[in-house]
Amino acid sequence: MESMIKDINLAVSGKQKIAWVKEYMPLLNILNEKYSKEQIFKGINMVVTIHLEAKTAYLAQVLKNAGANVVVTGSNPLSTQDDVAAALVESGISVFATHACTGEEYDTYLRKALEIEPDLIIDDGGDLVNMLHGERKDLIGKLIGGSEETTTGVHRLKALSKAGHLAFPMIAVNDAYCKYLFDNRYGTGQSSWDGIMRTTNLSVAGKTVVVAGYGWCGKGVAMRAKGMGANVIVTEIDPIKGIEAVFDGFRVMPMAEAAKYGDIFVTVTGCKDVITKEHMQVMKDGAVLSNAGHFDVEVNKHHLEELSVIPPYEVRKNITTYTMADGRKLNLLGEGRLVNLACGDGHPIEVMDLSFAMQFLAMKYLLEHKGRMENKLYVLPEELNTEVAALKLEAMGAGIDKLTPEQQAYLEQE
Ligand code: NAI
Repeated sequence: MESMIKDINLAVSGKQKIAWVKEYMPLLNILNEKYSKEQIFKGINMVVTIHLEAKTAYLAQVLKNAGANVVVTGSNPLSTQDDVAAALVESGISVFATHACTGEEYDTYLRKALEIEPDLIIDDGGDLVNMLHGERKDLIGKLIGGSEETTTGVHRLKALSKAGHLAFPMIAVNDAYCKYLFDNRYGTGQSSWDGIMRTTNLSVAGKTVVVAGYGWCGKGVAMRAKGMGANVIVTEIDPIKGIEAVFDGFRVMPMAEAAKYGDIFVTVTGCKDVITKEHMQVMKDGAVLSNAGHFDVEVNKHHLEELSVIPPYEVRKNITTYTMADGRKLNLLGEGRLVNLACGDGHPIEVMDLSFAMQFLAMKYLLEHKGRMENKLYVLPEELNTEVAALKLEAMGAGIDKLTPEQQAYLEQE
């Protein structure tokens, strides 16, 4: 199958990146070893739509090694790394993705990928599933099912399911305990700061950081900011999350108030218009605005443009400066797209090892239960969660105790 990428000559550095991540993905290595022999996905066509960087590339290779015909697209225009895409193509996998593609190109890539007529899909954010329920409905008959990687995609699936429109089984890998506990919290916690720090080269210590949303991701972002010496303010809409943030030691207030104090803002809500004109008008000169939520709608970019009295300009790679009428400058990172991926390499490798092992097992589960699943949203079976956690613990050189039969009986007594 053909590919659409930026430049195949970039493959050398992409290969290096993939070789590096392999060293730190013991779970994928175990799955690779086992299933490349068993060829469980032989003859199965798969579309993988996930932020296209080295960890994703390795997942795609492991699926291919297990027999699948894999096609890969990115799941966000700025998170695709062109060198990794080139390396994947060199390894015999079709890729439709370029960094900083337009919305139209992005859709074309999804369309092209679907030409493989998938049996299984992995989606991240719900764009692929959306296309399968719209212009490529005709492919649904052949599709066994798929899995979803992130919270925003799961929200979209829940809406489809509630309306009775979900047309094939989907597994919400995002909602597996082993996924959100580590990926959303520790993964987003570390990688958002990695993206912000490498892009701005500013200190976090001593800054006032405003984290919008105290869900799984927000908790990680706030925790790591605090650990680096920032004064953290949390904004929320859910009273329970609000109290949780207070008990975790953070100040909690509405964005209209927090906007006045923040030096660095990180939105991570999955909602839209979390930072708008009203907030921008009271922000400090030099405030840094970033988003770690799935879509670039949390910081209202149209409002930034409207308020800007001169054309916005790139002051440093991945930082756009907007100049307000009173001379204040507001700096937006990575065009308001997921800062950890648009301005960095995404989650730490070890964290994605867990998430992607679950994705692999979700594909296996769907195949094994072909024809026996309903057109609804499933969570990953508990035993797979536990299996992945146990393997990871072993790979990390940590051990845990086992219950003796007497202890087991004691716990089970009425
Ligand atoms: P979550 O549902 O656990 O948390 C979201 C929180 O935001 C909730 O507590 C909710 O009450 C709060 N919230 C919603 N609207 C708000 C508003 N207008 N103002 C303040 N708070 C608001 O979701 P999770 O897992 O933390 O994911 C959040 C977003 O991050 C999603 O879009 C998800 O897809 C994305 N995500 C991004 C990752 C990355 O690599 N950057 C990794 C995983 C998820």
